[in-house]
Amino acid sequence: MVIPSRAAAWAVLTEFTPSQPLRRHALAVEATMRHLARSSGLADAAELETWGLVGMLHDFDYERYPTEQDHVWRGMEILRERGWPEPIIRAVGGHAFYTNIERRLPMEKAILAADELTGFVGACALVRPTRRIADVPVESVIKRLKEKAFARSVDRTYVTRGAEEWGMPLPALVALVLAAQVPIAGRIGLDGAPGPDLADSPVPPEPAAP
Ligand SMILES: [Fe+2]
Ligand SMILES: [Fe+2]
Repeated sequence: MVIPSRAAAWAVLTEFTPSQPLRRHALAVEATMRHLARSSGLADAAELETWGLVGMLHDFDYERYPTEQDHVWRGMEILRERGWPEPIIRAVGGHAFYTNIERRLPMEKAILAADELTGFVGACALVRPTRRIADVPVESVIKRLKEKAFARSVDRTYVTRGAEEWGMPLPALVALVLAAQVPIAGRIGLDGAPGPDLADSPVPPEPAAP
C-alpha cells in the first residue's frame, strides 16, 4: 500500500472541516492512534503513520455530513474517489457502531478505543483549575465517566467497548490516551491556554512520542 502523506490528510481534513474544535479533535486522535500503535509494539514508521492518518481523518466528513445516514459513509466514498488506501478507509468506517463494519485488525480496534476517550480526557482537562491535560489523574477520568451529566455527548458504551475490543483494562487505556495528548497539549488548547487557530497551512508538526 502506498501511504499518502500526512499533508494530504491534513488537506482533506481542512477542506471539509472549517471548525477549530474538530480540527483539534483530529490532531488529538491522531496522537492517540500513534501512541496506541507504539505501545502495542509497532515500530515501523509507515505503520505508525498509517494509524495516525486514520485518527486524523476519522471525522473529516462530520462537519459537512453530521447525521448517521451520512457521517462516515460519505467520508468513505470521498476517500475512495480520491484513491485513498482501502485499509485506511475501512478503519475510518469502523469507528461508529451504526456502520456495522466489523473491526478485525488492530488499527480498526484502535480507532474505536481512541476516538471518544480522547475527546473525553480533553473535557476532563478543561474542568480542572489549571486546564492542563498533564494534570489529569487517571482516577478522575474513571470517576467522570460514571457521572452521566458530565460531557454527556460522549457515549460511554463507545468507551467501554473500545477498551474491551482493544483488550486493555480501562484505566491502562486512559493512561495511554492522557499521555498521548501531553506533547501536543499546547496545540490543542489543553496546556492551560486556548489553543492557537489551526490553519489550513502549515500542516501541524507530527506529534512527538510521549
Ligand atoms: Fe465520528
Ligand atoms: Fe471522533
